[in-house]
Amino acid sequence: MATSSPAVLATSPSLTDLVVAVRQVIEARANWAETAQLVADALRTHLPSPDILTPDQRRGDPDRAAGHVLHTEHDGSFSILALIWRPGQTTRIHDHITWCVVGVLAGVEHEELFDEDLNAIGTRDSHPGDVSGFAPPGDIHRILNNTTETAVSLHIYGTDVTRVGTSARRFYN
Ligand SMILES: [Fe+2]
Repeated sequence: MATSSPAVLATSPSLTDLVVAVRQVIEARANWAETAQLVADALRTHLPSPDILTPDQRRGDPDRAAGHVLHTEHDGSFSILALIWRPGQTTRIHDHITWCVVGVLAGVEHEELFDEDLNAIGTRDSHPGDVSGFAPPGDIHRILNNTTETAVSLHIYGTDVTRVGTSARRFYN
């Protein structure tokens, strides 16, 4: 995520099953890489529809990718955000302070992957229903919406991003 001061929203009932499933994964205390895959499995099972956001929230922000915090775990172990990408919006190249899981709810997220020398090493297009999980190291990437339609994705991070401010460890551009 690379957005500023997202507002915290009340937990929607449709998120409850997802929160419970992620909490069960966290309590197993697996390593980050395994946790990312298990949380990705949980998100595949409990992927909400874009209706979890209001139409106004789904419109996004003309100036930057918009973030809406949907849940923060009381012990700071994870948080769930929705990100809205208008056409052309992109993140900077960055890596992460913890494991991340991303599921696309609407539109297409285009991801560019980089090695530690910032050589491009791959791209991936994720469509509605696609879920992926990853953990540092080797997690340098950039996300952009290179389509003409707004994209909506759900992001789960292994920390409370409202406390630490961002999920990004470092920006490279
Ligand atoms: Fe990221």
